[in-house]
Amino acid sequence: MDASGGALVVNVGHGRSEIVQAINEQLQRAAYIHATMFTSDALENYATELSKIVPIDDARFYFLSSGSEVVEAAIKLSRQIQMARGEDNRHLVIGRHQSYHGMTLGALSVSGRPALRKPYLNMLPDMPHVDPPYPYRDPITGEEAASKLEEEILRQGPDRVSAFIAEPISGAGLGAVVPPSDYWPVIRQICDHYGVLLIVDEVMVGLGRTGRWWGIDHWDVVPDILVTSKGATSGYFPLGFVATSNDYVNLILQELGDFSHGGTFSHHAAGAAAGLATLKIIQDENLVNNSARMGTLLGAQLGSRLGDHPHVGNIRGRGLFWAIELVKDRQSKEPFDVANHLAQTIWQQAFDQGLIIYYSQGCADGRNGDIVMVGPPLIVDENEVEEIAELLSTAINEVV
Ligand SMILES: Cc1ncc(COP(=O)(O)O)c(C=O)c1O
Repeated sequence: MDASGGALVVNVGHGRSEIVQAINEQLQRAAYIHATMFTSDALENYATELSKIVPIDDARFYFLSSGSEVVEAAIKLSRQIQMARGEDNRHLVIGRHQSYHGMTLGALSVSGRPALRKPYLNMLPDMPHVDPPYPYRDPITGEEAASKLEEEILRQGPDRVSAFIAEPISGAGLGAVVPPSDYWPVIRQICDHYGVLLIVDEVMVGLGRTGRWWGIDHWDVVPDILVTSKGATSGYFPLGFVATSNDYVNLILQELGDFSHGGTFSHHAAGAAAGLATLKIIQDENLVNNSARMGTLLGAQLGSRLGDHPHVGNIRGRGLFWAIELVKDRQSKEPFDVANHLAQTIWQQAFDQGLIIYYSQGCADGRNGDIVMVGPPLIVDENEVEEIAELLSTAINEVV
């Protein structure tokens, strides 16, 4: 039972011949279409459909091949929007501690997972970071959590800050942490007040994973730039995209001539064909709705089976995106020592029982803190949700 779709990728399930066929047909038509010379029907059709579901009005898209690449592009895009506005000094992108935005140096510089950053620290551009909301360990209001961004903007100097980047619902770093209801609206106000662009990283939670099209939709907040990848083609082809408004694109074209970015394999028509076929499945099978309904059931099933477990500190998530944080002591919330490899051991136990989950370590303090996560394909039904909850609770009970 694949309850994680790899790294939260396989959103419409394995073996979808419609997607394979769409890629095949596109590749039969043309193997490769160079993006600076041409567009393609596949890209234009996909962009048209995407523009109907992204929260940004009149959106334009830039297609790449991975989450890291779209984050890099978004960082550079924010810088170019600021330059086009005459704000040449703005170059800092504020990220959050415990976040993950990608493997490349720019994306890693705004990421906040210490273990992943450590080997490259002196090679990374020095970007500021603020604490994310983490209600389980830091029970403050969303407004208080958001005010940390304002403090950091003032510390750095508003005229130096280009953008703020964050995952709307935390991914693997913190494990499906859903911010309080007042967090994102206050973040939006702060960004507007200081002329800072808001980049939402929907690489893990976009396209229905959390029971709405976008994670940020739970707060009805409109970002300046949105990026997504993983589930966009459900893993059938490497694809990600950046979305921003037509106004920003036109401003760059008018003031700077062009968006200075590009790569040989950007805008691949086969990726667009795969993305469009995946999107059609999500729409035709009403999978965003299914994610919301099955997610509520999954949360309840995990809660009833594991809510009283002595080492389950917190069960959290939204839609089909759930994490269980394990602790040594429920009262003090003390984590297990990282050296115990608890999350990994539970992963192995689950795997041996026939269940694939996802896990990470470091949520509590950057080093310690074990999380096991589930994010099954959005096509799951009631029986499968029950099976996932049953197998996972058995695995946890076997290990701790
Ligand atoms: C929120 C988020 N952003 C960016 C990335 C980087 O994506 P990729 O691994 O496709 O480069 C990831 C990967 O896990 C992610 O979870």
